[in-house]
Amino acid sequence: MIPFYIETYGCQMNVSDSQVVARILSDNGYEPCYRWEDARIVLINTCSIRENAEKRVLFRLDFFARIKRKDPQLKVGVLGCMATRLRDSLLNHPAVDCVAGPDNYRLLPGMLGQPSLRPACMNVELSASETYADIRPLRNISSGVTTFVTIMRGCNNMCAYCVVPYVRGRERSRDPRSILEEVKNLVDSGYREVTLLGQNVDSYLWQPQDGSDTVSFSRLLEQVALVSPRLRVRFTTSHPKDMQDDVLLTMARYSNICRHIHLPVQSGSNRILQKMNRKYTRESYLERIARIREILPGCAISSDMIAGFCSETEEDHAMTLSLMEAVHYDQAFMFQYSQRPGTLAARHYPDDIPEEVKTRRLAEVIALQNRLSLQSNRADVGKVFEVLAEGVSKRSSRAFFGRTTTNKVCVFPRENRAIGDYVRVLVKSCTAATLKGEIINENP
Ligand code: 5AD
Ligand code: SF4
Repeated sequence: MIPFYIETYGCQMNVSDSQVVARILSDNGYEPCYRWEDARIVLINTCSIRENAEKRVLFRLDFFARIKRKDPQLKVGVLGCMATRLRDSLLNHPAVDCVAGPDNYRLLPGMLGQPSLRPACMNVELSASETYADIRPLRNISSGVTTFVTIMRGCNNMCAYCVVPYVRGRERSRDPRSILEEVKNLVDSGYREVTLLGQNVDSYLWQPQDGSDTVSFSRLLEQVALVSPRLRVRFTTSHPKDMQDDVLLTMARYSNICRHIHLPVQSGSNRILQKMNRKYTRESYLERIARIREILPGCAISSDMIAGFCSETEEDHAMTLSLMEAVHYDQAFMFQYSQRPGTLAARHYPDDIPEEVKTRRLAEVIALQNRLSLQSNRADVGKVFEVLAEGVSKRSSRAFFGRTTTNKVCVFPRENRAIGDYVRVLVKSCTAATLKGEIINENP
């Protein structure tokens, strides 16, 4: 058995894909290992979303080029989004023996099995149908409590800034039967939480060939929630133009669907939203938020924000800040705009906001969100939450960390509880990032 090691960059979709790759290789004469030093094959699953993400990977490839000078038999493969985007140019890198895009992982055993990988080999074609539905991801057993389940791949929304449709191809939904089977297996092996993954989960749609009923996202969500009342269900990412009331109403019916929606807004300015090709307005977004608050009181809402998109004025930026205040996000991921070659924005709009302006605006967005997150967490002090114990706290071996249904990280003394237990925690204090509490026994 040849040992392989996978290093994963980027989003949860890549984490999930690495598990698919691990299964494919394990079924074909390779065995996973957990340190690159122990491996004969190193695979780097890469991200193209911002220039920095790519730089990190290129830096890492330079590192492996140096390792290979001492150990020329070590094979290095590039997987994921950079494989599709950079294609042949990666083949010229001295570290790289093999390049496989997100839809080509079934070919990896054949590619890696060749007696000599020089010249390096490459498969980066995108597929209209590959969902790896029949492949049971090989999960890292160390957590065993929460995991991701991919329900769809690719993306059809041409957001002007975004490289994803180019590197991951057209949107396609996975057969719900294979999703449910995977979730049932996870429950049987002790998992307590799944996060359903897709670039735009609201457009999940399964259209069977045999004429039976189509399955929408809300229907799929319900079926997953019904697998076990002990299983928590999360999902990401929702799109403000597609998220309809049916999803909210399904969430309201099942208490094991977590009270958290990640609904990226990107900007609070209608002019910028239109330029970004997001297909909603500030007003329609706020209307969606109002519906969430109405149907799901107490539901947490998080977002992604981009500072310094092409032509963004101080007024546009102020609109983003005021929208953040209006929604009062519980959490957010915030970025400064990074032009990606080939995207609509790169082709049509100059990247005209000076670096120092982007940096300053991003700092303002982050400072505001820190204040909002702290306020949101302070409002939880004194409340009791059900927390799923996910692991031992980094700060203290006597404490566990877990998350509330609202996706907030909560740390508490472990007492006699085990990882995977649901515990009732009274929140005693907080920072902007974490709740701290104590287990309460309500029926002593
Ligand atoms: N520059 C900066 N941020 C980006 N994102 C996507 N593309 C870019 C880009 N070119 C952000 C968006 C998206 C998140 C996953 O990454 O906010 O929601
Ligand atoms: Fe994930 Fe997008 Fe990065 Fe690809 S480019 S790894 S889809 S965030």
